[in-house]
Amino acid sequence: MTRIISPSILTADFGRLSDEIALVNRSEAQWVHCDVMDGVFVPNISFGFPVVQAVRALTDKKLDVHLMIVDPDRYIARFAEAGAGMLTVQAEACVHLHRTLQSIHEAGMQAGVALNPHTPLSSIEEVLDDIDMVLIMTVNPGFGGQQFIPQSYSKIRRLRQMIDARGLSTLIQVDGGVSTANADELYRAGVNVLVAGSAIFSSADPQQTIHQLLTAQAGE
Ligand code: DX5
Ligand code: ZN
Repeated sequence: MTRIISPSILTADFGRLSDEIALVNRSEAQWVHCDVMDGVFVPNISFGFPVVQAVRALTDKKLDVHLMIVDPDRYIARFAEAGAGMLTVQAEACVHLHRTLQSIHEAGMQAGVALNPHTPLSSIEEVLDDIDMVLIMTVNPGFGGQQFIPQSYSKIRRLRQMIDARGLSTLIQVDGGVSTANADELYRAGVNVLVAGSAIFSSADPQQTIHQLLTAQAGE
């Protein structure tokens, strides 16, 4: 099964952003995860277009942009211009999710949908065929460095069954509290894409941590 590591730059040192991205460039991570927060959908404000554009100029890796903002439809074209490859919206922020997915595809990007811990899988059941990636939030969004919510495993397993039963290639991503301690169990539950912020950027050897996240095996 596909395994992808997407380091979240939320916990990177923004004063040394080019060094932090250079570190990701030298690593086995395939994507770069950019968390955009508006201070309304979540109780935090992170960064917007200038930072996403700056990251785009510093790497050839796919930009995996996670929007934690209200009314994301207003900014789809701007994120395409800024260089996003995967654009993930929060299901809770979309009144017309099907239309939003169409707009993301029309703008030339892949479409992801994130579900907060309390949001049931049934909220995406009718549009699953139109989604390239489902992001199961394993913390309440807004901050790096939070504790992984263990009930997420059952949700991931049920989503894996739903995707496989329909013969889809939709990726499953997890975000929040991911580390080398739970990577293997997450893969076994059916996850494809691990987002990790503090586990990578607070590590003494981020490249090695990325390698461990990618190659995690039972018993490690
Ligand atoms: C949380 C963000 C995450 C965050 C993860 O709202 O969406 O991407 O950076 O941070 P860690 O890996 O430290 O939990
Ligand atoms: Zn995120």
